[in-house]
Amino acid sequence: MTGPARPGPAGDVAARADAGFLHRYGEPPAGRWAAPGRANLIGEHTDYNDGFVLPFALPLRTVVAAAPQDGLRWTVWSELSDSPVEFGADEVAAPGRVSGWGAYVAGVVWALRDAGHDVPGARLAIASDVPVGSGLSSSAALEAAVLAALVDLGGVDLPAERRPRLAQRAENAYVGVPTGIMDQSAVIRCRPSHALFLDCRTESVEHIPFDLAAAGLAVLVVDSRAPHRHAGGEYASRRASCDQAAKLLGLAALRDVPAAGLDEALALLHDDETRRRVRHVVTENQRVLDTVELLRAGRIRDIGPLLTASHASMRDDFEITVPEIDTAVEAALAAGAYGARMTGGGFGGCVLALVDADRADAASATVTTAYAAHNFPAPNFHLSTANTHP
Ligand code: GLA
Repeated sequence: MTGPARPGPAGDVAARADAGFLHRYGEPPAGRWAAPGRANLIGEHTDYNDGFVLPFALPLRTVVAAAPQDGLRWTVWSELSDSPVEFGADEVAAPGRVSGWGAYVAGVVWALRDAGHDVPGARLAIASDVPVGSGLSSSAALEAAVLAALVDLGGVDLPAERRPRLAQRAENAYVGVPTGIMDQSAVIRCRPSHALFLDCRTESVEHIPFDLAAAGLAVLVVDSRAPHRHAGGEYASRRASCDQAAKLLGLAALRDVPAAGLDEALALLHDDETRRRVRHVVTENQRVLDTVELLRAGRIRDIGPLLTASHASMRDDFEITVPEIDTAVEAALAAGAYGARMTGGGFGGCVLALVDADRADAASATVTTAYAAHNFPAPNFHLSTANTHP
């Protein structure tokens, strides 16, 4: 059994980016820029319904070391890949001309240029602790770190509150993944020891105190390692059901169904599956608001039941969990977690469990045992006190 990985010294990943740059390009970078991975405390599949989310930054990060290069050329090395991605003005003239992981970088260049900004050619080296494909926003962290590097190198005036939309555009329009605004907002706007209460309609944010360490608590993040089963198509189909339900109800978005008006809205819908999708979104928005109220009152432990209720709603109404994920939630709760839920888009990815800090190892042991009993590949763990940040 391995316990949760503690973050290494903050310099580790930055030193790797620097060393990678020096090794590949034969000189030191002009600077380095970072963005964290995120977990979403609560508020799942609410962002594209104009609703509420409450993510926080994890002590895992992506670092980009970079320097300008002459002409409109971009060269990108990643420690995860043996060969660089290189592209020029043609590849960023229109979406889709670079594929694979390089598309996230080319997408940011494209989105900046499409918004009328001058982006200098650049050489980049990327190092990251954010696991890829685990639902902890490795894509958004890469977009945000690259965006920060290019903006600074080019002297572009782009305030932080306008960056999430641009990074989301890179992902939606260039890479072609129809995600909402949560991940890019989280990795750009979260602050240490706080969760980010984001209204996805207005993009207004409030930083809500979430000082786990001070409360003797930790969030145990369990990477289920479940293969993403049709995640892309399922995500898009959930999104389509929500859009269609809003249309049937004559509303701009499901955000416009208040919790008190849920029964009335459900009575207008005749398809059972659509009703369950709507019930998830409406009750989940209310759970975010209730969680924010408890955190404002300093009652972190009391949010546990809301987290667990959110999980039940994702499992039964939105139908986006998988057996590995449900097993991790049940085991964490059996080990004494205050609450546990899947975090992120679903169909695999991670579970988060709110635990007393001194119970985190015991909880991870219980999850590992439950996985073994089901013959699932052993999960990975990350521990967060939400106190560290790039
Ligand atoms: C993914 C997407 C987000 C959001 C979540 C579900 O992480 O990138 O925009 O929709 O799923 O809450």
